[in-house]
Amino acid sequence: MRTMAFAALGALGLLGACAQPESANLTSSQLVARGDYLVNGVVLCGDCHTPRLENMQTDETRKLQGGHTGAPPPMADVAPEIAGIPATFTHEQFVSFLQTGVRPDGSHPRPPMPGYRLNEDDARAVAAYIATLPRAQAEAPQQP
Ligand code: HEC
Repeated sequence: MRTMAFAALGALGLLGACAQPESANLTSSQLVARGDYLVNGVVLCGDCHTPRLENMQTDETRKLQGGHTGAPPPMADVAPEIAGIPATFTHEQFVSFLQTGVRPDGSHPRPPMPGYRLNEDDARAVAAYIATLPRAQAEAPQQP
């Protein structure tokens, strides 16, 4: 009987561990690596949000620093910079946006921005990765 009770406790402990999102068990660098894979290999945010070179290839030195979709009105041509997470979102608001497709102010971006419904693990990984990307440098006056 006693062993069975222990087994049951063990099983409960395991369930408790499983109830947490998987992302909680990843180190931050593992989370960023997973987000890199998702963003650049699966959901392809850069197809719209990364600027293009003259040869139409995405400029990988300026990842997610803002691009054009070529979509006609009333759709949105400008896909704004999201590198470093847009200033109008906190980290948690950005994670939530990736799960709901709704901005912190309750609005939805216009098409062709897809309304993503990522699960929490994927949303946390994508946000962790995008947070590491440098924002475009503001136009700085030339140093003498
Ligand atoms: C098919 C093109 C396309 C793809 C792919 C795409 N976006 Fe967008 N995204 C847009 C456009 C266009 C807008 C601007 C919509 C508007 O102006 O209403 C936008 C808007 C946004 C905004 C709102 C920015 C703000 O300041 O309000 C966020 C955040 C965003 N995208 C994140 C992402 C992320 C993260 C991914 C990948 C997971 C992604 N987008 C993939 C086209 C795209």
